[in-house]
Amino acid sequence: MSTTITFLGHGAFQIQTAGKTILIDPFLTGNPLASVSADSVQPDYIVVSHGHGDHVGDTVAIARRTNCLVITNYEIATWLKEQGVERTHDMNTGGSYKFDFGTIKLTMAHHGSMLPDGSYGGCATGVLLKTSDGNIYHACDTALFSDMKLIGDESLRVAILPIGDNYTMGPDDAILAVGFLRPEYVIPGHYNTFPVIKQDVEAWSAKVQTGTSAKPVVLSPGQSFTL
Ligand code: NI
Ligand code: MN
Repeated sequence: MSTTITFLGHGAFQIQTAGKTILIDPFLTGNPLASVSADSVQPDYIVVSHGHGDHVGDTVAIARRTNCLVITNYEIATWLKEQGVERTHDMNTGGSYKFDFGTIKLTMAHHGSMLPDGSYGGCATGVLLKTSDGNIYHACDTALFSDMKLIGDESLRVAILPIGDNYTMGPDDAILAVGFLRPEYVIPGHYNTFPVIKQDVEAWSAKVQTGTSAKPVVLSPGQSFTL
């Protein structure tokens, strides 16, 4: 078996593992970097990290079309049901659940979570995905926090980190995060989508190379990395 991670632009990633396709934060419509359209994706699962529009994205339309299962916190799951999404699995921060593709744990994130219509979106989360090819942590939208050291104890093969700054940690804090998380590979996300989060990803990648023990993997939207 192998596990393939595809960057879809911004915080959106597709993970294919154990024969299943999982989308995390499928913000495609209105995402200037999106590598696919919302009507072309065919997920078995969607994971939504928090309520912001650039993460909930096209979840409602994709879930209604494909009948995929949406995994997210209780508050967002409740809201999604009100929008006509039939299949949800609600969780909350710190909780793990074993699905047929592997285990998902929702981790803490320091960030807001208001839904697009102003509804309460619970607590923002990160996503720890345990696959047969190793553990993948998508920090999603968050500030740097020292408890990332505990997530690093999960022996991560891949960490996906925001580097855009302004709304999330920026490039320098993301380097510190790599030190806390100690992954084998680190993939940057949540940058260059909008002018306010524009970053020099090649300079960041060079700093990962020289300042940490992780290998940087910079993906253009549409590009994949296979474990
Ligand atoms: Ni956000
Ligand atoms: Mn965001």
